[in-house]
Amino acid sequence: MKRMSVNTHNNTYDIFIKKGILHNVGSFIESFIKNKKVIIITDTNVNRLYGEYLMKNMRKYTSSIFKIVINAGEDSKSFDTLKQIYDKLLSFHVNRTDIIIAFGGGVVGDLAGFAASTYMRGIHFIQIPTTLLSQIDSSIGGKVAINHPKGKNLIGSFYHPKSVIIDPDLLDTLNNKFLYDGFGEVIKYSLIKDKYLYNTLIRINNKIDIFNHIEDIIYNCCKIKKDIVEKDEKDQGIRMLLNFGHTLGHAIEKYYAYKSYTHGEAIAIGMYNITKVSEDICITKKGTSKLILDILNKYNLPYDMPTNNIEKLFDFIRLDKKNSGTNINLVFIKEVGKGTLQQLDIKEFQKLLTVNLKG
Ligand code: GLY
Repeated sequence: MKRMSVNTHNNTYDIFIKKGILHNVGSFIESFIKNKKVIIITDTNVNRLYGEYLMKNMRKYTSSIFKIVINAGEDSKSFDTLKQIYDKLLSFHVNRTDIIIAFGGGVVGDLAGFAASTYMRGIHFIQIPTTLLSQIDSSIGGKVAINHPKGKNLIGSFYHPKSVIIDPDLLDTLNNKFLYDGFGEVIKYSLIKDKYLYNTLIRINNKIDIFNHIEDIIYNCCKIKKDIVEKDEKDQGIRMLLNFGHTLGHAIEKYYAYKSYTHGEAIAIGMYNITKVSEDICITKKGTSKLILDILNKYNLPYDMPTNNIEKLFDFIRLDKKNSGTNINLVFIKEVGKGTLQQLDIKEFQKLLTVNLKG
């Protein structure tokens, strides 16, 4: 088993990573759940596969367990679903000593976490993430949110879980598209912080190999995220490194109304194309974009810009939360494993990207 503890200004919590940990998950969180009211929030997919199993496991520690099942999919990260959750928590007479377990991917984690952060001014919650993306990113670091019709994650807070339990075996039931979607973020960690991880990833040749290395891969990603979050919990500086590839990636996701590209696919395109630009302006060592291309190919991730409509993409980019005035905060890599933050004038960035795509 691998374990690490996240230490922020006001919170300390453990992350446990172990294949099969779901079988005795209760023993790892016993102190939080014993004789408490436990409310499992999950989605229809995860519930079908593992919902009853988790309930059974919890019953050894408490007789008071409830389950709230939301529809699978991004549409559930909404005011409507949040209200339904509050209604259920109230009908179950949940109080501030009770605990929520977020059991699912990023949507469940963000939504259940936000509900926990606001219900009765905050009750404890635990993350049991079930997708690669949520195991290495969204379950750690305390960002919880719902979407607003005007944009994703616009209503949210920083609220850390009491513990994060990661069972890589849960990824067995993930289809290839969503497994590789997660690898978009895994590759991102290697590019911004860990050349050794890049070298491990590039040597992996098939899905069996992936699963042979998965515990170490997840551990390395969580460790990078933990180190960054501990230095910059509230996303004012170094945490922005985690957004490598995201400026273009988010714009691509929005351009296609979240229908054509998964998050991991969109940031893959973003990482490759921003690095082509940063090579052109000598921020990045020549040849780095080719190394990105090689690794994206390996994990079936796209890299070419899917549209020439840069004007439209920049309509979205100008709305980015992290812009300041006419400047945009961008993440580049100097070389594999070395992320760096720099500001560029948005118009200049648009020109550079346009020139790069034409060339
Ligand atoms: N997913 C980026 C962050 O947690 O800051």
